[in-house]
Amino acid sequence: MDKPASKRHFLVVAAASRGARFFVQKALRQGHDVTALCRAADAEAALARMHGLLGETVLATGGVEAAQHPGVLRANTMNILEAETYRVLLEDDPSIDRVCCFVGVTTVRLMMSRDLRLYTKTISAVVDGMRRSRWVEFFYHGSSGSEGIPGNSEPLLPDNFRPRWLMSLGLRLPAAQDCFESESILAASCAEGMKFVVFRPAWLTTAPAKRSYGYCFDTTGMDNEDLPLRAAKITISREDVAEEILRVATLPDDERAGWHGHGIYLVDMKSSGGDRS
Ligand SMILES: NC(=O)c1ccc[n+]([C@@H]2O[C@H](COP(=O)([O-])OP(=O)(O)OC[C@H]3O[C@@H](n4cnc5c(N)ncnc54)[C@H](OP(=O)(O)O)[C@@H]3O)[C@@H](O)[C@H]2O)c1
Repeated sequence: MDKPASKRHFLVVAAASRGARFFVQKALRQGHDVTALCRAADAEAALARMHGLLGETVLATGGVEAAQHPGVLRANTMNILEAETYRVLLEDDPSIDRVCCFVGVTTVRLMMSRDLRLYTKTISAVVDGMRRSRWVEFFYHGSSGSEGIPGNSEPLLPDNFRPRWLMSLGLRLPAAQDCFESESILAASCAEGMKFVVFRPAWLTTAPAKRSYGYCFDTTGMDNEDLPLRAAKITISREDVAEEILRVATLPDDERAGWHGHGIYLVDMKSSGGDRS
């Protein structure tokens, strides 16, 4: 039986990350299927790991409405740094129609490593895997610290990040530079058929979703019309980010098209004027 037009099948990369747990939980709740890629001994252990993590993930009240039938969760432990992983998964399962990536460097030591190149390796593998199979819309949980349209951006923090000199030191870390570079790989693949959205959330917190965030496209500014930084904090919760990625990834085609190729800054507003509940 064909799947309903509104039902998605997400392939989630680094699905055990703290942000992805919220995303996966909410996507399943909304009735979408999820294939989760996470590190584990084998596929069975990957599924057990995901069930364990999702069981511990408490969702804030409100937000994503529960579908009559929750989606189906599958899990796999294939190497996210290899193009073959994406080629095989996308060829074998034509129902996968979105790929979301939450990969992140997890320790300070790895943030300092020049050899790791986790972000550029992951994104290169995704692009190469799609090139060898089929292009699937890609939603990337990146980071703030990138200003301008992806592919033509510069490493810079939003103007209200203070103390500026201290916070800007983070941009010099090899991991931050690598994350910044990974956006260009995506942008360069657009001509071949890639459609992507990069999310550039502010400082992440573990707080429950407040749904009082704002967003703007590509470039931030103290008086940006869509998101005046004067009225913004410098934090946002992982749950809010997950909800926004899910919202955008499930927008109707004509609305979603307006997001393709852009870098979206997400941050909590000081007052709840931008309430999205
Ligand atoms: N800290 C901030 O304030 C901030 C702000 C904006 C954006 N970000 C970025 O947001 C993203 C997500 O953040 P988060 O806190 O949700 O991430 P997180 O909880 O730190 O998780 C990162 C995930 O990446 C996975 N991973 C790392 N190396 C891998 C590898 N070689 N193969 C497979 N999986 C690998 C980890 O797998 P395991 O679970 O198996 O270890 C983990 O699940 C990151 O890219 C982060 O840099 C952070």
